[in-house]
Amino acid sequence: MQKTLIIKNKINPFKKTILMSGDKSLSIRWVLFSSLADGISTSKNLLMSEDVLAAIKAIKKLGVKVELNNKTCKIYGKGINGYNYKKNLIINAENSGTLGRLILGLLINTTYPIKIVGDKSLSKRDFKRVSDPLSKFGAKFKLKNKKNLPLTIHGSRHLKPIRYYEGKGSAQCKSAIIFAGMRTEGATLIKAKKSRDHTELMSKILRLPISVKKRKNYDEIKVKKVKKIPVLNYNIPSDISSSAFFIVLTALSKKSELIIKNVNINHSRIGIIKILKKMGVKILSKNQRFYKGEKIADLKIKSPKNLKPINCPSSLNSSAIDEFLIIFLVAAKANGVSLFKNLEELNQKESPRLKWGQKILKKIGIKTTLSNGSIKIFGNPNINLKKKNYYKKLLKRPQSFYDVCYSRSIFWWDMVYS
Ligand code: S3P
Repeated sequence: MQKTLIIKNKINPFKKTILMSGDKSLSIRWVLFSSLADGISTSKNLLMSEDVLAAIKAIKKLGVKVELNNKTCKIYGKGINGYNYKKNLIINAENSGTLGRLILGLLINTTYPIKIVGDKSLSKRDFKRVSDPLSKFGAKFKLKNKKNLPLTIHGSRHLKPIRYYEGKGSAQCKSAIIFAGMRTEGATLIKAKKSRDHTELMSKILRLPISVKKRKNYDEIKVKKVKKIPVLNYNIPSDISSSAFFIVLTALSKKSELIIKNVNINHSRIGIIKILKKMGVKILSKNQRFYKGEKIADLKIKSPKNLKPINCPSSLNSSAIDEFLIIFLVAAKANGVSLFKNLEELNQKESPRLKWGQKILKKIGIKTTLSNGSIKIFGNPNINLKKKNYYKKLLKRPQSFYDVCYSRSIFWWDMVYS
């Protein structure tokens, strides 16, 4: 896969309408739910990125048939107990934390130990955050260094429901516990700090016995044993995290306008819109509608005359978790000092994004201070990357930009109008 996008030419003011590729979180969840459905589920606009392809390979290893044809995917679900657990099975989650963590919830009842491996970056990430709650159900884990991949999970046939407080605001942990609860007799109760809620919404569309009570700062989720998952045909809406790159491009351009069609604007994902609006970027959500419980809209972005600095409320952190790196670029061009607080979780991603954020900004001549998960960015509206050849330095190792792009293969977007 091509990993670098180099824009050599100056971008002239533009007026474009684009369509982005499908949402990563929805694509992986659709693959996993459909693998356990009773019958054939079809999706359109499934994200064809490496993370989603890894999810497809994983369910194939578990004995599920998949047909991929252009952007249409058919999954021949084998029923809730349909996985073929063989001896010495190895599942490779590659670079995907979402796959690696969510699938553990579904493997909670394996009859043989299953090994989960990942690439170099995934192997450095924390899996104890999922193995801890899943052990409480009765599964046994062995992890490298007690917290990393490779790990083996040995499930149990005598699962006990649990009560758990998910305090990191991690949708991956929450979803793994929901999946495990779906396989367990009795009621599993989760008190979860707010995070993206696609698993809950998909469960609702599938009419699974999972209920959610929304409180101010957390959700109370009750999960009962699932007997049957119906087929789910899904037209995956566009990914706001992929769209974010083009939203920011417009925010940093002059006299430009962009429309991005059919974007998933689920409330738990629109931190970037709220933050950029506060910074002076005009963003309109047009043609709002609901599709399978997810809110969808066409986004219209106009480049602003001036960018204002922001003291970013931490309550927006989880809804912009994959977008902060590029939000920092907007702060770099704002007229004043911006502050982003309580972002320790950013260092738990594919690469330590907060550290990289600071490195990248330094490379382009922007002053920052970093302490205890908070970053202060001293914006400079007159920054000129070309003049000082900053962009040449930047291109050497913008690691954290890759990792956000990589999981979504965002350079495979389709221009619909020009
Ligand atoms: C995701 C949750 C987030 C996000 C990731 C996708 C998901 O991770 O960063 O890209 O689909 O559940 P955490 O749950 O670790 O915050």
